[in-house]
Amino acid sequence: MLGILCLALCGLLTGARADPGALLRLGMDILNQVQSAMDESHILEKMAAEAGKKRPGMKPIKGITNMKVKDVQLPVITLNFVPEVGIFQCVSTGMTITGKSFMGGNMEIIVVLNITATNRLLREEETGLPVFRSEGCEVILVSVKTNLPSNMLPKMVNKFLDSTLHKVLPGLLCPAIDAVLVYVNRKWANLNDPMPVGQMGTVKYVLMSTPATTASHIQVDFSPEVQQPKGKAIKLAEDGGPLEIPGGYAEGSSQLLLSAALLTAELALLQKSFDVDVQAKTIGELPPQTTETLAGFIPEVAEAYPKPKPLVTQIRVSKLPKVTMKTGKSLLHFHGTLEMFAARRRGKHPVSLFLLETHFNLEIQYSVQENRLQMTTSLDRLLSLSRGSSSIGAFNEKELTTFITDYLQEAYVPVVNGVLQGGFPLPDVLAINYDLAELHLVEDALLLDLKLD
Ligand SMILES: *[C@@H]1O[C@H](CO)[C@@H](O)[C@H](O)[C@H]1NC(C)=O
Repeated sequence: MLGILCLALCGLLTGARADPGALLRLGMDILNQVQSAMDESHILEKMAAEAGKKRPGMKPIKGITNMKVKDVQLPVITLNFVPEVGIFQCVSTGMTITGKSFMGGNMEIIVVLNITATNRLLREEETGLPVFRSEGCEVILVSVKTNLPSNMLPKMVNKFLDSTLHKVLPGLLCPAIDAVLVYVNRKWANLNDPMPVGQMGTVKYVLMSTPATTASHIQVDFSPEVQQPKGKAIKLAEDGGPLEIPGGYAEGSSQLLLSAALLTAELALLQKSFDVDVQAKTIGELPPQTTETLAGFIPEVAEAYPKPKPLVTQIRVSKLPKVTMKTGKSLLHFHGTLEMFAARRRGKHPVSLFLLETHFNLEIQYSVQENRLQMTTSLDRLLSLSRGSSSIGAFNEKELTTFITDYLQEAYVPVVNGVLQGGFPLPDVLAINYDLAELHLVEDALLLDLKLD
């Protein structure tokens, strides 16, 4: 009975405990950069150009014919977060409307106005992508000047302008807001593209839920999908604590947090590449890789091989490599075997001397280059060494600690760094440039404090 209860409850608990593998906090700094979309896309100018054209469904304006819009001022855009909704957008601009007035003369109206709308942030059902939708677009007239003859009653002019402009402007300008959003929404679209992790698989930053808007930022939670080429997905471990951006970052700033679990899953794609056979005689600063060198540590080798033979080393990773992160330090854990062979004449298989079970750590240094997270490693510590098999009889493997430590640093670390060289993709969102980010290691995660240029 209790068992059943636990099954039900524990199921619920694990269901509720799904943590994001990565999260992105978008502050006003990024959004202000995005809103330059308005300038880039020259939306208002295009709208103005459209204004003169006859469009189906557009009511003619009583009193003005041959209407045209010109001299659209560069819009000033102000954005504000609306908690739980999205972004309030105010576009302040000015323009000149020309036409023939009902009095027959050329008419010019210079208007300064604000276009306001709430851009609600949603998650599109079909694509799972975030989208902004504008709601409640309004045009607020800040000032109106005209060349209409002053002998007309000002009251009448004002009434005419007010009703005319209120009729015509929203239809003319609100589509501009929508058009800008189309442009902005397109900058989320790449999120759905799987991005390569070396040649061994892909990662896709899938949205976990609708992004949440607070008074100071938008938070986007991802549950990244790490995928092998032939379809098999790698699950992210959920052994860390909840992923949270630590406090203390400036209001309006933006951060990306990547969990150790995500990086571990991506490294799983590369696991096979960490298995290597090394048979070079000279490696870095190491003494010559021969049985003679080895005999300096374990005399049993000299007995078995009085004449020096070149060494061949095989490293096999037996468990998934694991990334851990603590404040200021990140390690990559390897468990596996290191087997040394004595080479024989050509055509003959090398003979195994011994096999050691090993566990060692590499320290990871992170950087970002061309929007990819780069890792380079150096040996941190050889944690354990135990003898598995041996063809040269029993020996004390502890005597090999220095030899193996140097070997890992000089021979194996470069291999690992070579495998990691391709880097790891970062979420392609709103054309964010991650290259200037400041990196900090926190508990179970890597934090990228985004700096914009
Ligand atoms: C128009 O927008 C600007 C900038 O947001 C604001 O300062 C001003 O008060 C607005 N004017 C009106 C009439 O709403």
